[in-house]
Amino acid sequence: MRGIRQHVNPLGLSFMEVRAKPLVRPEALPASAPVEVELGCADADFSFELAAVHPEWWVIGLEIREQVLDRNRVRADAEAVANLSFGYVNLNVDIDQVFAPRSVDRFHLLFPDPWFKSRHRKRRVIEPWLLNVLCRQLKPGGEFHFASDIFELALAAMAEIEDPRHEHLGLRNLAGAWSFWRGNPFDAASRRERTTRRRGQRVWRMRYVVP
Ligand SMILES: C[S@@+](CC[C@H](N)C(=O)[O-])C[C@H]1O[C@@H](n2cnc3c(N)ncnc32)[C@H](O)[C@@H]1O
Repeated sequence: MRGIRQHVNPLGLSFMEVRAKPLVRPEALPASAPVEVELGCADADFSFELAAVHPEWWVIGLEIREQVLDRNRVRADAEAVANLSFGYVNLNVDIDQVFAPRSVDRFHLLFPDPWFKSRHRKRRVIEPWLLNVLCRQLKPGGEFHFASDIFELALAAMAEIEDPRHEHLGLRNLAGAWSFWRGNPFDAASRRERTTRRRGQRVWRMRYVVP
């Protein structure tokens, strides 16, 4: 990661401009290909693994740091991965530009930045606007998958998602209301998930489906 910033302030002025764009589906895939999206993918180990295990899926990694995206694209070319795309997004500003309504099978938000300090609370990624946009972009029965190694952050995300204010979205917790999902049901793990497990720490995972 030498020369690449580890963190950016997503609410910084330079990231407020709307510049995310829809992505072009790889030629090799039909329009009916399932669409899986990793939000804040960083080095995208999860996306690379998912794309390798499911060559019939269109896997997309979105990230705010352009240099990380460039490096991922170079890796995807070098490994000749035909079903993986990368794109810029600021999740709190322009994710609404990337996907049409009812077009995504699953969003994965894995180990988002914690922003511990209370003055950084508003940088936390799960907020009403984002939730509304994701639910609109999911296909009927589509899923929002969230994981974190920080219990307080996962609980804050759960409290936001299960808040009665969002009842109209119809999100259903697959583990039961106010419950975490045990184990990893996917054929892939992010770099941060591997580190967490190596340290013997717990992953706090949630899976929500839309009607
Ligand atoms: C802690 S890393 C986790 C990376 C990866 N998902 C994993 O599990 O290993 C969080 C990533 O989210 C990105 N990020 C933070 N805020 C973002 C935002 N508002 N929009 C898009 N990406 C964001 C960061 O640049 C960083 O790469």
